[in-house]
Amino acid sequence: MADSSYDSLTTCSEVLGLPQIQRHVFICADQTHPKCCDKAESIVAWNYLKQRLKELGLDQPTSRSAEQLADDRPACIFRTKANCLRVCQQGPILVVYPDGVWYRSTTPEIIERIIQEHLMGNQIVEEYAFLVHPLPEPNTSGAK
Ligand code: FES
Repeated sequence: MADSSYDSLTTCSEVLGLPQIQRHVFICADQTHPKCCDKAESIVAWNYLKQRLKELGLDQPTSRSAEQLADDRPACIFRTKANCLRVCQQGPILVVYPDGVWYRSTTPEIIERIIQEHLMGNQIVEEYAFLVHPLPEPNTSGAK
């Protein structure tokens, strides 16, 4: 007999499109201890990110139009609200993985540029990127 809790997780993963994720965006918002920016400002930024990814059909692989499929846009972008990304200045701070691009001052206007230029156009928004550090492949040379 199948493990029902495993089935539930598998279904959830499929509904969320986890196997199709191409990029994961984290943004510091709704902080317990707001340090990088005003808490209300961070919530505005988070809501804008969610709304625009949804409007553009980038948050669910099943919501993509034939036009989006044809022009090679990313299949699925996952977004997560982080309580604090530990930079704690010039926020809202936003990071895009697997690219490892860290952005500062991500107001809705800058988020729109990140979506259009980076997430859809594969061009980093240089003026607001303060670090580019793609995560390295794990070193498995010592693994058995
Ligand atoms: S409070 Fe935003 S990075 Fe720490």
